Amino acid sequence: MMMIEIILFGYFITRVCGDGVADVVLSCTLVEEGVGLGGMGGGALFTRTPASLVLHDIAVASDESLEELTPFVPPSIPDPDLFLFEAKVSSPKIPNADVLLHADCNEQEVTCEISRYSPQGSQESSDPAYFMVSLSVEGVDFSTAFIMQTLMVEVNQSTLIQNKLGLPLSHTGTLMTEVIFLVFSHIKSVSATLSGDVLLSCGFKQQEVPLAQEVSIEWRLQHRGRGHKVLEMKTKLDDMEGSTVVHGDRRGSSVDAAQVVGEGNASMTVTRLKVLDEGIYICTVSVGHFHAQQVIQLHIVQPPQVSLSEEKLVLKAKSAQTLSCHCKNYYPLDAQMEWFSLSPTDTEPELFADQGSLSSHRQHGDKTYSLSSHITVPPTVTPGTKIICRVYHLALDDPHNVSVVVESPKPDSYWWVLGFLVITVLFFYQVMR
Ligand SMILES: *[C@@H]1O[C@H](CO)[C@@H](O)[C@H](O)[C@H]1NC(C)=O
Repeated sequence: MMMIEIILFGYFITRVCGDGVADVVLSCTLVEEGVGLGGMGGGALFTRTPASLVLHDIAVASDESLEELTPFVPPSIPDPDLFLFEAKVSSPKIPNADVLLHADCNEQEVTCEISRYSPQGSQESSDPAYFMVSLSVEGVDFSTAFIMQTLMVEVNQSTLIQNKLGLPLSHTGTLMTEVIFLVFSHIKSVSATLSGDVLLSCGFKQQEVPLAQEVSIEWRLQHRGRGHKVLEMKTKLDDMEGSTVVHGDRRGSSVDAAQVVGEGNASMTVTRLKVLDEGIYICTVSVGHFHAQQVIQLHIVQPPQVSLSEEKLVLKAKSAQTLSCHCKNYYPLDAQMEWFSLSPTDTEPELFADQGSLSSHRQHGDKTYSLSSHITVPPTVTPGTKIICRVYHLALDDPHNVSVVVESPKPDSYWWVLGFLVITVLFFYQVMR
């Protein structure tokens, strides 16, 4: 039963080890390319096998109660068929890793994928072996990819070898590893307005003993199946002087070399945003033979400028009038308009009988859209009634209202009324005489 639960919820917390650190066990998927499928003639076929990852020494905020944690117990009989990874994450630390401890209570799904990693340009060798882990928590801005390196295991006759991976297991049947390099982001998705600036978060950390002194940062933008390089920076961690930056065709993006070197902060600032800047940004950090990526989605949102065609709406005695509501220069495309009326005797606006006819969307040179809705205001509307155009759009937190108050007919129609009165008075005058 317990095992089933673990797999269903994808996650459970384990023992707390002394001061402010805890372990967490994640249920992951081991993704292997084309293993054992040679005979099937498939190219890039992947097999997905359940695996567990124990992360040791996750920092916990000191004010937190950790009483409800259940201890992690390794299987009593080591099983060479299981994939049970153990990793120390004290150095380098995974930023904000404590969200992993709360994901279960908050019913947030943890996505954890493990795959074999071969360092670029290094000789194929299985000692040590490397694995890439990508980890993210649903609904939280937590995302990281890190490389684990297997630790040396003293091999003797009783040492078990993992059946599929061919790697020696610890006496508890786990694959002992340490995290040597990680790339992370504080955001998964960000929205920004046109002509504004945005910071796309990306950072990296490596072991205390650096893997290499040279680091290269590449930012790419992927949009609707097309990709291009936005920026590439190469710098030395001990000497910033030699850093080089190559820009793609997008100007106005920058990565701060001092922050790269000083803090491992490879975040990119993009200024004067255009609709064309929208898409998926990929931050790749390469250090020595290792590289890892983070993906951040940028959405451009621009609220509509809303206006009515008339500042005053004076009723005409007989003919209906047209009133238009214009939404200008917004992005993305989806915008909704609704018409309401609020008569002087009512407290709540009600839907207007005519919900208007929409113009077609117009797209401008800056790729923003405009849309108008036209209604007919009949002469029967009570003067003093407020007519409201309400606009809903992604970029607006609350719907935007514009309104006009319907006024009584103009004085020239009073003349008609006055004339009528005069005639009536004259008539009575004649009759009374
Ligand atoms: C990078 O630095 C900026 C401030 O310049 C900060 O807002 C951001 O959180 C940092 N990002 C990372 C990933 O460290």
